[in-house]
Amino acid sequence: ASLAGASSRDPSELYSDEESIEGVNWDKLGFSLTPTDYMYTMKCGKDETFERGGLAPFRNVGLSPASGVLNYGQGIFEGMKAQRRKDGRIVLFRPDLNAKRMQLGAERMCMPSPSAQQFIQAVKDTTLANKRWVPPFGKGSLYMRPMLLGSGAMLGVGPAPEYTYLIYASPVGNYYKEGSAPLKLYVEDELHRAYQGGTGAVKSITNYGPVLRAMTEAKKRGFSDVLYLDPVHKRNIEEVSASNIFVIKGDTVSTPATSGTILDGVTRRSVLEIARDIGYKVEERAIPVDELSDADEVFCTGTAVGVAPVGSITYKNNRIEYEARNPSVAGQLQAALVGIQTGLVVDKNGWTVKI
Ligand code: COI
Repeated sequence: ASLAGASSRDPSELYSDEESIEGVNWDKLGFSLTPTDYMYTMKCGKDETFERGGLAPFRNVGLSPASGVLNYGQGIFEGMKAQRRKDGRIVLFRPDLNAKRMQLGAERMCMPSPSAQQFIQAVKDTTLANKRWVPPFGKGSLYMRPMLLGSGAMLGVGPAPEYTYLIYASPVGNYYKEGSAPLKLYVEDELHRAYQGGTGAVKSITNYGPVLRAMTEAKKRGFSDVLYLDPVHKRNIEEVSASNIFVIKGDTVSTPATSGTILDGVTRRSVLEIARDIGYKVEERAIPVDELSDADEVFCTGTAVGVAPVGSITYKNNRIEYEARNPSVAGQLQAALVGIQTGLVVDKNGWTVKI
């Protein structure tokens, strides 16, 4: 009924002195799984205490067919990136926000959660154990995927009797096959991603299966991804399958308010703070889909996606094109964000955490 136990070896025994893997073509990474050396697991039973976590070689997990996560979708996850700076040091970006969001998600999904300190220490241990997989400066990052799973077995609908906090890592480059070229979005107005009272605001695994159909259809038709509308009025834009959305008009940077159906993205939040800091007006509000035709620029944000410019949006057979601007607001915000993450811009807010 549980994941195969992790060894609780001292992580330092596992660290490799190798700085980088030989023979990897870092320029060809994309966003696909490259299994790395180690993963982390920590369990929690009926006493609701997480303990005896540890690293072990990356492997398939053993789960009962009756586990809560497999049957009833009791699971949440986080996405984080470890980046290599020019001086070779490895940093995480605002891991406290991921730790907090996992706790909020756990509450919504009726799961106990690791403490913020346990969450962050485990991410650090997993990053260090896989440090030879952190791409060289400027070539991508090591994507960390912390998960909290109802790993215990039961049959009736209910919270699982055991939970597992698990982290795996994979080096990644660009999320979209378009690379950094502007995205072509399709506005979906029949199928929805989230609804009031649902789980759209937390990173539940159950938010992602339901987007696959619209996304696959849109990709078949040559679009990069889908932009969802609010399910009540089908009037306001919400978010893209795996990212938040931003609209620029003049010197105002707007994004849908996090009113229960929008994920409170770490990149979303950071971009809002940077935009305000460099003098833009910032608005978090309901954004009617009609405003898209009047926007100067649109872009997406996410840990996996980064800051991705949008080149066109198709809504009800009408295609809105956005001319590439130079300089663009998206470009400016991305440079500031990546600059802070990689140490090229002063991190005055203390967002980066050295490993
Ligand atoms: C991330 O940006 O890290 C995400 O979690 C999106 C993911 C579903 C690819």
